[in-house]
Amino acid sequence: MYTGKKVRLRAYNQNDLQDVLRQVNDYASIRHSAVGLILPSTPDDQSRWIANQTSMTQGAYQFAIETLGGQYVGGCGFNRVDWKNRSAQLGILIGDAAMRGRGFGSDAVRVMCFIGFAEMNLNKIGLTVIDGNDTAVRCYEACGFLPEGRLRSEVWREDDYHDLVCMGLLHEEWRKDPGMYH
Ligand SMILES: CC(C)(COP(=O)(O)OP(=O)(O)OC[C@H]1O[C@@H](n2cnc3c(N)ncnc32)[C@H](O)[C@@H]1OP(=O)(O)O)[C@@H](O)C(=O)NCCC(=O)NCCS
Repeated sequence: MYTGKKVRLRAYNQNDLQDVLRQVNDYASIRHSAVGLILPSTPDDQSRWIANQTSMTQGAYQFAIETLGGQYVGGCGFNRVDWKNRSAQLGILIGDAAMRGRGFGSDAVRVMCFIGFAEMNLNKIGLTVIDGNDTAVRCYEACGFLPEGRLRSEVWREDDYHDLVCMGLLHEEWRKDPGMYH
């Protein structure tokens, strides 16, 4: 539906179930994007989750990411939309390692910025990255996000505490760079 230079963001459907299930059960991928307890997910869990991602959903908006050729590569979304303060938290997962580093993630983030600013009239898109996830930081920087600080020892993972790096992009900053338009 929303098309970038390399990816299309569209609604999830039940045909995505096997791809979604494989990706959310891949610890090596999900350890970067989930800050909570990581547990194995069943087909029923994910089928229900897909069924709940409708245009009627309030407060959170999720999109499947597919290549322009129609191959599912992951998902992204606004996890917490705050209409009063006009802000939202962005999340993204390109779940298969072979599909990373090919420009799909940054293109999807740019499309999300278009949706957030040009369509939803958000003032700010924020996100957090577990310290050490340099690929994600590089991806967000490439899309114009700026570092805003860190929440110290916020995430317990793999027998250690990790900082959460906060990044954000304002509507006025996004508008200044025509390269970020689609
Ligand atoms: C983070 C993620 C969304 C980035 O998407 P991607 O498709 O892999 O990244 P892109 O190919 O669009 O590259 C974006 C930038 O990162 C750089 N990059 C890509 N892979 C990299 C790597 N392994 N190390 C360092 N930089 C890297 C690219 O050079 C590019 O920078 P540039 O535009 O200045 O050249 C994706 O890797 C992913 O889903 N990872 C696992 C889950 C995750 O970390 N989610 C984010 C949680 S906050």
